[in-house]
Amino acid sequence: MTQTQEQPVSTGDTPFVPIEKIVSLCKRRGFVYPNSEIYGGVSGIYDFGPLGVELRNNIRRFWWWSMVQTNDNVVGIEGNIITHPRVWEASGHVENFVDRLVDCKNCKRRFRVDHLPEENLRQNKCPVCGGELTEPRKFNLMMETYIGVVEGERMKTYLRGEACQNIYLDYDNVLKSSRVAIPFGICQIGKAFRNEVTPGNFLFRQREFEQWDLQFFVHPSEMQQWFDYWKERRFEWYKSIINHKDRLRFRPHGADELAHYAKQAFDVEYQTILGWQEWEGIHWRQDWDLSRHSEYSGQDLSYTDPETKERYMPWIVETSGGVDRTFLNLLIDAYEEEPPSGKDKEGRTVLHLNPMLAPIKVAVLPLQKNKEELVATAKELHSKLRRVMVSQYDDVANIGRRYRRQDEIGTPFCVTIDFTTLEDQTVTVRERDSMSQIRLHMNEVPAYLLERVRWDYKV
Ligand code: GAP
Repeated sequence: MTQTQEQPVSTGDTPFVPIEKIVSLCKRRGFVYPNSEIYGGVSGIYDFGPLGVELRNNIRRFWWWSMVQTNDNVVGIEGNIITHPRVWEASGHVENFVDRLVDCKNCKRRFRVDHLPEENLRQNKCPVCGGELTEPRKFNLMMETYIGVVEGERMKTYLRGEACQNIYLDYDNVLKSSRVAIPFGICQIGKAFRNEVTPGNFLFRQREFEQWDLQFFVHPSEMQQWFDYWKERRFEWYKSIINHKDRLRFRPHGADELAHYAKQAFDVEYQTILGWQEWEGIHWRQDWDLSRHSEYSGQDLSYTDPETKERYMPWIVETSGGVDRTFLNLLIDAYEEEPPSGKDKEGRTVLHLNPMLAPIKVAVLPLQKNKEELVATAKELHSKLRRVMVSQYDDVANIGRRYRRQDEIGTPFCVTIDFTTLEDQTVTVRERDSMSQIRLHMNEVPAYLLERVRWDYKV
């Protein structure tokens, strides 16, 4: 969760995009809205609009496909947000999931101790006005909630602070109900909640967000090998969905920033205008979780090897990333403002999203909306296409404006129905990034597009 202090430098030929441009595009085109906006909003909480929900679903599905459905030794679960409160004592979150904060006695600003420059920490001085700072106070990030309605009988518990806890809780059930044996993994995508003291940078640090986790259970003697394996695989996975490959790196955690459960950790980081920031954590959780849950629940979660009969507590490699950070980083990575050129006289804003993740795969456009035959043919093709991919029919404004609208939301293909179509059944297929156009027979269009928008990852 840390952010390094290095100054961002733009690499390659595209400058870093200011976050405000992404926020504005998201609101304008229906990707993301502030939650409860008519009441003034809630800091660190967002809603997803019509295009946002399509993009999010595609991101989730691609992760699920590449992590669960294409790995024989990985299965999936969906655990609930609310669990028994003892879970969070066993996990260490009640005790350790805290931020230490100080307040400036003069300007009343609040700072996280681990974000203060060393000099200010030593002199106990506010980094903004130089005023005296209060003693650090601890704030737990867990969000409390209550089960039951009768006062005095209600049970206090927590909205999960990390989604992965369900995986440890269901581990024994999965083992007994599925044909898995160590080494194997359990995956889950789910919401997590944190009372972040300093939410901000749009979707980057929210109070309600979504995580994807793989917990991979191994024999202790094989821990290093599997840790290295998943570390590399996850890095390659992120690399496969971005354009700016040079903006991705690994960063090992220093001893002072390791989470209470981790013996070793690496962050996959992505570089934006905000600097290098965590995208996913690869954690060496060892036997922390299963040992603690065994101790706190009284249920023995150790494993007996079916062949050697050796009994041991499995160790865990965790890969834990954020759906929201993926959503945000993909938009940042894809965004480009292209100046006017020979191909586009006005210039355009374009999202170079990977076609398989783009919210809309194809837009079907009749050249003119007042020509009945053009409209009917376009609608017929659209209804054929939408059975196999997300297709949008659009007849509002001139064709150039419609292309630009689709470019701005990352639609990889536009199909235009014109007067030649009525004669020979061919249509124009325009590709978003190159703006190149080819003519195809209408019957060839579904297969042509499907080949270009399908899941693509080395499995
Ligand atoms: N189970 C381990 C765990 O929760 P983490 O590093 O705290 O580790 C994992 O979180 C991932 O969840 C992060 O890499 C990030 O992508 C995402 N994440 C964490 N806190 C977040 C927040 N406040 N808002 C959005 N995403 C967050």
